[in-house]
Amino acid sequence: MLHDLVISGGTIVTATETYKADVGIKNGTIQTLGYDLLGSEKIDASNKLVLPGGIEAHCHIAQESATGGVTSDDYRSGSVSAAYGGNTCFIPFAAQHRGMGLLETLDLYDSRSLNSSVIDFSYHLIISDLSGNVMEREFPKAVARGVTSFKVFMTYDLLKITDEQFLEVLHTAKEYGALTMVHAENSGIINWVSEKLIKGGHTAPRYHAISHPALAEVEAISRAIMLSKFVDAPLLIVHVSTPAGANLVRDARNEGLKIFAETCPQYLFLNRKDLDRPGMEGAKFMCSPPVRDSETQEALWRHLQLGTFDVFSSDHSPYRFDETGKLSKGVDATFQQIANGMPGIATRLPLLFSEGVNKGRITLQQFVRLSSTNAARTYGMLPQKGSISVGADADIAIWDPNLKRVVTAQNQHDAMDYTPYEGLELTGWPTSVITRGKPVIMDGQLVGDHSHGKFIARGKIDLTGIPGHQALELDIEKNFGANLTS
Ligand code: URP
Ligand code: ZN
Ligand code: ZN
Repeated sequence: MLHDLVISGGTIVTATETYKADVGIKNGTIQTLGYDLLGSEKIDASNKLVLPGGIEAHCHIAQESATGGVTSDDYRSGSVSAAYGGNTCFIPFAAQHRGMGLLETLDLYDSRSLNSSVIDFSYHLIISDLSGNVMEREFPKAVARGVTSFKVFMTYDLLKITDEQFLEVLHTAKEYGALTMVHAENSGIINWVSEKLIKGGHTAPRYHAISHPALAEVEAISRAIMLSKFVDAPLLIVHVSTPAGANLVRDARNEGLKIFAETCPQYLFLNRKDLDRPGMEGAKFMCSPPVRDSETQEALWRHLQLGTFDVFSSDHSPYRFDETGKLSKGVDATFQQIANGMPGIATRLPLLFSEGVNKGRITLQQFVRLSSTNAARTYGMLPQKGSISVGADADIAIWDPNLKRVVTAQNQHDAMDYTPYEGLELTGWPTSVITRGKPVIMDGQLVGDHSHGKFIARGKIDLTGIPGHQALELDIEKNFGANLTS
């Protein structure tokens, strides 16, 4: 058979195997895995690794925060930057702010992503307002559009929902085969400490971390797990930043609860000392939950090795270090007035490859799971995405495992003016990236087309292999009737 494109001579790595073979691509999907394949076009991948393209499952693109700031990356720059980082698909958030409907929110993000992305995409839908008929009427329609993951916040005054509302989202999501994601930090602790710090004149960026103590995360993760257990609903805890929080996740999984978790590069590679940089420099490293200490970094690596974390995502929240972003309230802004988040969509995978695979902390198979396959499974895209197998979308990243490159703000392709990893030399980089059979990056050059990336309607969440919590203390169906959501 004559393929449209053949990737020849490389070493294919999947979540379970490593072997040498050619990849034959036709009509955007993988047609053949074999030897001496024929193709109209050829990419020579000798001495390279051929991996499932990365799936970036946590990033903020063309998104307003509840306080009005807008991320500097849109679907054009964000998708290009993601592709340079070895990603072939990403799932930014569509943020429902109070007063907005869910479908209105999805329409808005459709207009922002239209003809803009060089790679495929979907959305997680943030729910901050359950008033009116949002859960009864709009939630099922969002799921029917292929949006099957929903994020809620336990903190941030303009986003947080009550425990009652959290239960409602968990229960409704379960009914429709969707997944609830949660930002787990205790709002009361954060607000109480912040007020005291500000009153005492402690306003510098470093106090942001002090106002978001580890216990605030641990309490909220614990409560979130209990709420999920109570209604027997799957839950994914995003950006886990503490060993104690990760231990709760591990124990919940051990108990058979449907708990999933994510951590992010900043919690492995940055720490509190970065927030102590002079003047406002520390603002570049502010995110929520905050970066912590070196013991935390080591403990989170161990959890990554043990499989506590299903997904490893960037939480790319790009706010420039200027008056449009971090410094929008001036150079004397208090830590409460500085936008939270940092860029990292292009460095997520090179960091994990260099410091994880090349330094012997994780295997290539773990890398593939954490970078792609687990996200595809967790977010309802497997086997279309996240695997190199016959019939799957030809979403492939070709990696040179020995290529050395220093990270600088100048060699990024996002819309940012800094990278938190400035000056770090990493070994192992993607050199070519192919989305649905079409090259997006070739030998380090952008060749992709902004109308190529398409919205991926995702399926129900696959809970295969998760035992599930059977003994409900309160049998909701029995006590309240068959379907609470109708
Ligand atoms: O500080 C961060 N991570 N900002 C992004 C918003 C969020 O909670 O993920
Ligand atoms: Zn969050
Ligand atoms: Zn985030």
